Amino acid sequence: MSEQDGKPAAAGDDKAPAPEKEPSQDKEEKTAEDGDAAAADKKEEEPPKEMRAVVLTGFGGLKSVKVLKKPEPTLGEGEVLVRVRACGLNFQDLMARQGAIDSPPKTPFILGFECAGEVAEVGEGVENFKVGDRVVALPEYRAWAELVAVPAKYVYPIPDGMSFLDAAAITMNYIVAYILVFELGGVASGKSLVLHSAGGGVGQAVAQLCRTVDDVTVFGVASKGKHEALTAGGSLTHVLERGGDYASEVRKVAPEGVDLVLDCLCGEECNRGYNLLKPMGRYILYGSSNVVTGETRSLLSVAKSWWQVDKVSPIKLFEESKSIGGFNLRHLMYQQNGAPYVQGIVSKVFDLWKEGKIKPVVDSTWALEDVPEAMQKMHDRKNIGKIVLDPNMEPKPKPATPAKGKAKGGDKDDKKKEEEKKEEDKKEEKKEENGEQAAPAENAEKEASS
Ligand SMILES: NC(=O)c1ccc[n+]([C@@H]2O[C@H](COP(=O)([O-])OP(=O)(O)OC[C@H]3O[C@@H](n4cnc5c(N)ncnc54)[C@H](OP(=O)(O)O)[C@@H]3O)[C@@H](O)[C@H]2O)c1
Repeated sequence: MSEQDGKPAAAGDDKAPAPEKEPSQDKEEKTAEDGDAAAADKKEEEPPKEMRAVVLTGFGGLKSVKVLKKPEPTLGEGEVLVRVRACGLNFQDLMARQGAIDSPPKTPFILGFECAGEVAEVGEGVENFKVGDRVVALPEYRAWAELVAVPAKYVYPIPDGMSFLDAAAITMNYIVAYILVFELGGVASGKSLVLHSAGGGVGQAVAQLCRTVDDVTVFGVASKGKHEALTAGGSLTHVLERGGDYASEVRKVAPEGVDLVLDCLCGEECNRGYNLLKPMGRYILYGSSNVVTGETRSLLSVAKSWWQVDKVSPIKLFEESKSIGGFNLRHLMYQQNGAPYVQGIVSKVFDLWKEGKIKPVVDSTWALEDVPEAMQKMHDRKNIGKIVLDPNMEPKPKPATPAKGKAKGGDKDDKKKEEEKKEEDKKEEKKEENGEQAAPAENAEKEASS
């Protein structure tokens, strides 16, 4: 497996590819012409078809994320092969990279849970898709590649007029937001809610869905740097500062508390959120962003996040007329047979888009090669809305080697650095080929949110 610099796909790649011949078919023709020996030689010579993919070479920091050449996926029964045109970056990709997600695959593996593109091939038994269909897919990992084979139950047709980038920006965030707001949260006219990470992908989707109902008060909590843009955006009723005493700010406007708290942070926010509920209020936990405290996983943060949560008895809920809930799309879809339910939610979300009631807020678009920078932006809490990836986009030019030291033997220093870098990359490649990996956090996410 060789690392490559991430050359963008040729312009012609934009079109749906001509149906490809099965490799086995090629081999049979040759055998007839040249005999068994020549065919065997040919088989040895023929390299497997390769594609670019964003590979996690080991759990940890941004350096473990690389664009590599990987064999093209083979299609299984009931699967759809998607030629990817756009991908979604989600917070759980940061957690997966760190190994702070429950049951991650062994490294190396291809990252990503969300992509949109065209159907390049359909597997046996797939009847609802054909080659050329425009689709969006939520595979369990492997989405950030030029091609991905996905079980058809996780693939959804894209409405006419919706771009691939918008499909990748909408699908995951609005499924989650729709379920939180309408299915679990019971948002209706006159209700109020506290929304954490209000400027992020899911946050902006929740805010927009709340705007489809009259007279809903949204207290959005976000980093100070986003307040001006969020206030101007107008989808939040009140914009409150993350890390500040937002609970007191809420009480000033709503002394009795709120009807709903949507918490994706966990840790001490669970208790604050519960205490902000008015009678008949609901608290829903749907994330554990607080376990991410740096570029790499911190077991201390995981433990702290778990330990800080008050364990609430059903008797207390009964006495106070309050409810507590939780939601995990990944578990629902891949472990709890929730795919048909999710399919229904996707239809409702796409209907709202067709009616012009929702429009994804896209923060920025990045080339596959620039995923580490895109992830860094999310770590730095600077995204407003969704970060998307475009496999056909040119990577950003990397800054030239600093001029420092050029005058005195600078070239020599640069060469040495280059050689060291090559050596480091070779080691990474070797590790990747050997399938080496760091130990993942065992059920860290599960523990943090239980
Ligand atoms: N349950 C589910 O099925 C499900 C599915 C998708 C997403 N989620 C959860 O929903 C939340 C939002 O996900 P998303 O994909 O839309 O991402 P996102 O909100 O766009 O994530 C980035 C934002 O999260 C906030 N944040 C909170 N803690 C952070 C931390 N430790 N490090 C960096 N940023 C942090 C920052 O905004 P501020 O600084 O402004 O707060 C940052 O800008 C995440 O917790 C995610 O795990 C859950």
